[in-house]
Amino acid sequence: MKQHQIKFYYKNVTAEVLGSEHGITEKQFDQLAQKTEPLIEQLSADRSADKVRYRDLPYQDKTVEQVKKVAKEFGWCENFVVLGIGGSALGNIALQTALNPYMYNLDDKQRKCPRLFVLDNVDPSQISSFLGWLTDRFDKTVFNVISKSGRTAETAAQFLTVCEMLEQKLGKNSLKKHIIATTDPREGTLRKTANQFGLVSLQVPDGVGGRFSVLSAVGLLSAAICGVDIEQLLAGAAEMDKKVSQQSFYQNPAAVNAAINWHYYNRGKRISVMMPYSYTLKDFADWYRQLWAESLGKAKDLSGRDVSVGPTPVKALGATDQHSQVQLYREGPNDKLFTFLAVEDFGRDVQIGPAPAVAPELGYLANQKMSKLLNSERIATEYALVASGRPCLTVAFEKVCPYTVGQFIYLFEVSTSIAGLLFGINAYDQPAVELGKEATFALMGQSEFAALAEKIKPFAQMDNRFII
Ligand code: PA5
Repeated sequence: MKQHQIKFYYKNVTAEVLGSEHGITEKQFDQLAQKTEPLIEQLSADRSADKVRYRDLPYQDKTVEQVKKVAKEFGWCENFVVLGIGGSALGNIALQTALNPYMYNLDDKQRKCPRLFVLDNVDPSQISSFLGWLTDRFDKTVFNVISKSGRTAETAAQFLTVCEMLEQKLGKNSLKKHIIATTDPREGTLRKTANQFGLVSLQVPDGVGGRFSVLSAVGLLSAAICGVDIEQLLAGAAEMDKKVSQQSFYQNPAAVNAAINWHYYNRGKRISVMMPYSYTLKDFADWYRQLWAESLGKAKDLSGRDVSVGPTPVKALGATDQHSQVQLYREGPNDKLFTFLAVEDFGRDVQIGPAPAVAPELGYLANQKMSKLLNSERIATEYALVASGRPCLTVAFEKVCPYTVGQFIYLFEVSTSIAGLLFGINAYDQPAVELGKEATFALMGQSEFAALAEKIKPFAQMDNRFII
């Protein structure tokens, strides 16, 4: 069976199109190849030394078996709720938006599997409204609490709230029937709790950080529960693995993508805008934002030198943001690299209605396909950006399906690893997130952070002199 593909297209960053002031010349490309090829080799060596474990996620037959078993066991539910945040939520949201219909949760006819909700926050207005809707539906709901550490305050708060409600509504023994835990295989608060409560559990594999975990049980279970073909997802990632393992720079889309991003960063184009022209891919721009930002924004390089590097990822949506951002993108500072996500076949289409006699000027739209309009807008926007000397990349999906989505995920994960090597930083840690977490613990009264709580006091109360 011929599988659908994604294509990485980079002509519109070349000097051939943009001129040498904003484009990349052949000589510069060759320099990038020289710089990047040894790093492709280094990444392969790191992988062989078991240092980049997410690279092996496409081949985890045992996990797929376990996930499918759990999905079958809990398939009776009508509502599946993911409790998690960041890397334990964004991939789940992105897979759902990409691979199930827009009205999936609302329209029983378009949905053959449970509804999916991913909380990804602790906003009281959001959560109380959600729990208000869920209150009479707890008996038909399953919660998947996902946290590698189990100590993440937001996920823990969601989890504790749900446990109490389950106990009150359905009794103490209901937890086993209604909660699945996805966490560290051996350690951590959630592993301990899952064992204690006798919960069904899945594993966040050792050595795989949250933002690289969507192809593990973290992202696979909610996808499988909602009817996504997870084997195709992993098969797509495995196909991309072959491409991004190519040692030759020009054959390796992750290497070229990372190198172009790094090159423009060094030329002052430090903002990376991902702009899907498909609603289905909009949450992958969000997923990418976390992957790129948390991986590449670092104070120190690998030798401990202060570098404070990192491109700023921004998400936009076509055609919506043409009416919001494109004025800035064309005439504001030329400090951005654009990555369009294009879809060739949307799978379904809408024919635009006829123009009324009083508005013959709308006749050009009449009876045309909406896919043609959206894709024309994408091409037109890229053309307009290029006319203003703005570099543009495109990732084109023949179709948005599990196989191409798997390819896309893997392409950007490996692009992130190679970009990390080009910047000379550790792409897999996130030390700067800690201080905010600790300050939250302090403000919430955790005794071991009492000294920090004192330091934070001036931030907890507004200074009257500066209130207007
Ligand atoms: O990418 C990451 O490591 C983070 O975004 C984590 O996924 C996020 O902080 C949640 O962590 P945990 O899974 O430990 O609850």
